[in-house]
Amino acid sequence: MQKRKINLFGPSITNFEIDNVSKSLKLDWFQNYNKYQQEFEDYLKNFTKRKYALATPCGTHAIHLALLSAGIKKGDEVIAPNATWIGSVAPIVQVGAKVVFADIDKENWCLSLESIKRAYSKKTKAIIMVNLYGNMPDYDPITLFAKKKKLLLIEDAAESFGSFYKKKPSGNFGDISILSFHSTKTITTGEGGALLCNDKRIYDNAVMFSDHGRSKKGNRLKSEIVAFKYKMSSIQAAMGIAQLKRLKIILRKKENIFKRYEKNFKKCIEIKLIKTSKHSVSNHWLTTIYWPNKKKINVNSLINFLKKKKIETRPFFPPLNQMKAFSNNRNYYRSTITKFSEDIATRSINLPSGLNISNKDIDEICQHIINFFTY
Ligand SMILES: Cc1ncc(COP(=O)(O)O)c(C=O)c1O
Repeated sequence: MQKRKINLFGPSITNFEIDNVSKSLKLDWFQNYNKYQQEFEDYLKNFTKRKYALATPCGTHAIHLALLSAGIKKGDEVIAPNATWIGSVAPIVQVGAKVVFADIDKENWCLSLESIKRAYSKKTKAIIMVNLYGNMPDYDPITLFAKKKKLLLIEDAAESFGSFYKKKPSGNFGDISILSFHSTKTITTGEGGALLCNDKRIYDNAVMFSDHGRSKKGNRLKSEIVAFKYKMSSIQAAMGIAQLKRLKIILRKKENIFKRYEKNFKKCIEIKLIKTSKHSVSNHWLTTIYWPNKKKINVNSLINFLKKKKIETRPFFPPLNQMKAFSNNRNYYRSTITKFSEDIATRSINLPSGLNISNKDIDEICQHIINFFTY
């Protein structure tokens, strides 16, 4: 029998999701337009304790709407980490502003306050904090700095739904938070996202930018501005509602995956797991290992070794400022020193963390990795 491939990601879809989606396919979504989206948004608001939520087709669109709604434009600078998915920063370029790449903290792997301070200039208008792999940064001093300098603080919580910092849920930090419900994420709607905020002006702007420049009131055939069409479908929202109702079970499974890896790697002191940052609870979206520089393990050799064993892994995010998308377009960005982002990319990988993984799979993965490290 052929060995089953162990995937990096995998959602948890049960009959509960299937039944809710089937229900949404019947005509009530058409007769009662936005019913499922509103219910989904209400769940998100309740969970994150935000006043407003807007469901979007993906997390990248939510960041685009956040920047547009807060008036970020050409000539402005936005500080963001050099170590993240491109979706965190592409919308900065799309609104005509400049990305300022800053470094991540050695402990929590999210933007560090020191690096933000180094990156700050008179043109800085916003900071995009990314809660990398579900880990939370030290939000208190960063929020204080943003307030002092009157900067818009956006929480990119694409990877951290279900994480907490000082008992506050991810999705509740800064002026605007964004979520992603991409197929790889803890809670998924296939593709999907959301914008969360407490400011009615920002929410109203986001609604208008997401709906061809139409305001909720007045003649719905007349647009006030030329804008975008960024709306989530009823089918996606129905799937999301069912996923949210199972959030506790899903988070427990993620925690168990992390703990199983942790237990296994205790046998090999050179292999370290991403640490949950101080004062926080991580959703353990994606278990990640790293090793000391002196070990001289090559990321690609390790990934290829595991691939031969039918185990899918992924390297750490390559530094954005070294990608052609940016290095070929010097006017898109300004770089600061981002030593740790560059260094950690050479000595860490993401391990299979899908919700369908078994303890036996994890034990096997760990044994292969330990063998690779010790022989
Ligand atoms: C940190 C981060 N930001 C933004 C995004 C963009 O989300 P989406 O893929 O839903 O557009 C992702 C998703 O992969 C992400 O991981």
